[in-house]
Amino acid sequence: MEINLQEKFAEQYYKNADAVYFTPGRVNLIGEHIDYNGGLVMPCAITLGTWLAIAPNTEGKFRFKSVNFEEFVEADTKSTYSKNGGLWSNYPLGIINEFVKDGKDISGMDFLFYGNIPIGSGLSSSASIEIATAFALNDYLNLGYDKLDLVKIAKSVENNFIGLNSGIMDQFAVAFGEKDKAIVLDCETLKYKMVDVNLGNYVLAIINTNKPRELADSKYNERVAECQSALQLLNKEIKLNNLCELNAEKFALHSHLIEDKTILDRATHVVKENDRVHMAAKALNTGGLQEFGRLMYASHQSLRTLYEVSGPELDAVVDFCYTYPNVIGARMTGAGFGGCAIALLEKGFEEDFAKHLTDYYVAKIGYPAAIYISQIGNGPVKL
Ligand code: GLA
Repeated sequence: MEINLQEKFAEQYYKNADAVYFTPGRVNLIGEHIDYNGGLVMPCAITLGTWLAIAPNTEGKFRFKSVNFEEFVEADTKSTYSKNGGLWSNYPLGIINEFVKDGKDISGMDFLFYGNIPIGSGLSSSASIEIATAFALNDYLNLGYDKLDLVKIAKSVENNFIGLNSGIMDQFAVAFGEKDKAIVLDCETLKYKMVDVNLGNYVLAIINTNKPRELADSKYNERVAECQSALQLLNKEIKLNNLCELNAEKFALHSHLIEDKTILDRATHVVKENDRVHMAAKALNTGGLQEFGRLMYASHQSLRTLYEVSGPELDAVVDFCYTYPNVIGARMTGAGFGGCAIALLEKGFEEDFAKHLTDYYVAKIGYPAAIYISQIGNGPVKL
């Protein structure tokens, strides 16, 4: 950690923290915008994340502070809580709300957060804060939840408290991540396999476009609704719980039911992206890195043209990667509309890549991107 959280806690609350926890962020290697369509996704936890120091208080209040934000927020112990504007503290408050609704007796706790995941970068800083809070309280107060319970609770906070109709991928990834492994997760059944990420002569580069994700939430919910429309139309002929029950071949038999071009494009992305993840999982298992890279580019192209969640900044990064000889695959990761792209970059070219990408990106977009070489890390821990 870049800072001494214990010291900051003492400065903030005039006492020592009782426990400190870490929860990671995540990148998704492939399988974008299909978790809420019951698809297969392949995220991994990263070593950037959220630290949380806590200690009980006797005032019966929840007090939230983050080293990253100005606001200091207090809430009295109640039987139900509601969202407080656009404050970051809604994430921990939402978790407490779920615990209280579930009959847990929690009151009087001081929180200090610190995160090094760039906010709004598509690396799941929000899922990281949610799981950090849930994991810490569950551990400290012996609430008796297992990790999957915490994931479901955090997703419910995102959907019902925050108002983003997201799938389960991010919360699952940050809770179940393991060092040097990807999670191949079936979002319908929640069955998953941990797969070694053996990148051989390559590293995983994360490129933050530094583009704020304006209107990302409303556009995200719009995409979720578009997929639901496609599902309804297909259900006139077949019985489906979600779009990812179809592969591309079966989809072609029924896609005539979708007349609206936009809805058809959205569904086409979903079905083909799910097929790509199946291929990518095989490629990763058999050391087919070139094939994996090809699938990453195909995924980006589909997110750009069919699903329309990319943008000039993400496209500039991926376009550059495509022309750079020592990158074998690149794509946007996460919700899109700005945020981060990932690239498989040959070892030894980190500096050269960063320099040339920066020149290209600044000339095209007007401000620099940030480039990190990412390590795949573990899920939540008490430190
Ligand atoms: C966000 C959501 C996830 C997922 C991705 C897109 O990160 O929180 O549930 O839908 O976007 O794949």
